[in-house]
Parts: sequence; C-alpha cells; structure tokens
Amino acid sequence: MTAQRRPLVVGNWKMNGLRQDGVALAQALAEKAQQQPVAVEVAVCPPATLIADIGGALDKSVVEFGGQDCSPHDSGAHTGDIAAPMLADLGCRFVIVGHSERRSDHSETDSDVRAKATAAINAGLCAIVCVGESGAERDAGQTLDVVGDQISGSLPDGLRSTDVVVAYEPVWAIGTGRTPSAEDIAEVHAHIRTKLADISPDLAEAVRILYGGSVNAENAATILAIANVDGALVGGASLRADSFWTICSAAKADSDG
Ligand code: PGA
Repeated sequence: MTAQRRPLVVGNWKMNGLRQDGVALAQALAEKAQQQPVAVEVAVCPPATLIADIGGALDKSVVEFGGQDCSPHDSGAHTGDIAAPMLADLGCRFVIVGHSERRSDHSETDSDVRAKATAAINAGLCAIVCVGESGAERDAGQTLDVVGDQISGSLPDGLRSTDVVVAYEPVWAIGTGRTPSAEDIAEVHAHIRTKLADISPDLAEAVRILYGGSVNAENAATILAIANVDGALVGGASLRADSFWTICSAAKADSDG
C-alpha cells in the first residue's frame, strides 16, 4: 500500500535572529512560497521572542510556524518557561520537543519529552518529537536500540496520526556537515516505522518521519528520496531563504516509503 504522507520541511532557527533579521527571513519565505510554490508542507520554528512577529509576517502565507520547546505545564510558577497553550495562542501549528540540544543542555529525559509532547497535543499543537543516537552510540552499534527506546519513551499514549511528527536526528550529524549514508538513514527510518507499528499500524502508516542533521541545498534531493523519509528538519540551512527554499523544492509531493 502506498502511504499518503504529505512531506514536511521544518526550519529550526535555534537561538538565532533578532527581530529585523527574523521578520526579513519570514517575509522572504512568504514571497518564495508565492512565487515558487512547493507541493510540500513548510514550517519554521523561530526563537520564542520572534514568534509573534513571524506570525504576523506569515499571516497570509502557506508557510506555517511553531515553537522550539514547551513546558509540560499549562501555566503557573515556572519562571522562564513557555506553555504550549501560549504557543497555540500565537498561532503556532507545531512545537519541537526533545531536540538533542534540549536533551543535552537541559538534561531532558524521554519522560520529560513525553510530558512536553502531551502538553503540546492537549493544546492542539503537532509535536515534532526528536530522537537520535550520539556518535559513540553509533560506533558501538547501538543506534537502533537507542532510537527505539527513545521512541517508546518519548511518545505519549493514545496518539492520533496528526498529533506528532517524528524527527530522526543523529546527534553527530547536527551542525557538523556529516550525514549518515542513505542506507543508514533508511535503516533507522524503517526501524522507527516498525516501532510506530507496535503502537498502531494506522499510526505507522500515517506519521511523518523527518530526517535532520546537516541537510543542505546540495544533499536534500538525495536524502528526501530515501524510503520512509517524509521530509526534513533543517537547522543551519534554514537561516537563508534561498537554501531553505531549495530544500523545500527538492521534496516530492508524496512520499511513498
Ligand atoms: P543542522 O541542524 O541542519 O544545522 O545540522 C538540524 C537540527 O538540529 O535540527
């Protein structure tokens, strides 16, 4: 059976951009979306400080937007945190949870990520749940076990297919210019699909699995053509409208992994 998963390309701006740059980038993307339409779904996740402005700049655009993290709590005494309903209130459609930089910088565990994903879904957001092995884990041959455990530990119960997107991001590939081989990406994505099937076959068929880690304008077409790759989570190359749009243009309308 051919899956009908509309690919998704998400720009993760990380902790980059002041208002002027962020708004200019969003405006450039809105212009690209009009002038060079792509068949795939496109979103950007700016720093929290820019979301309101970016939301304004993308108001009439098909380009969607989201946050980079959310609290597991809906409100209350959690200084500095941002609740999922607050992101939804700004018009966000997505929120990234469990990015490896959050897992390492803030010691986030799978159960933290699961709680954040649950809060996101309850607020009506789609949670982009990130998983991926470290370089040492890959060298030790533990990739499939590590990623499988992260999937089991990070995904909430009772999911609908629209609630989540999974992003496979090998930690050693993020921001390094190194990517796994096409065979290695295909192996991990197939494994994630199998883990999703353990939860529910329908979920496995419908949930999009993105690849992230040093995706750029040059390698995007190759990576996006790999079986079970339903799009990309893009860091560095999402900070320029040209390179990001080249990546979005490289994604085909239907992935048929
Ligand atoms: P990168 O980052 O594209 O700069 O490697 C990807 C990510 O961390 O989401």
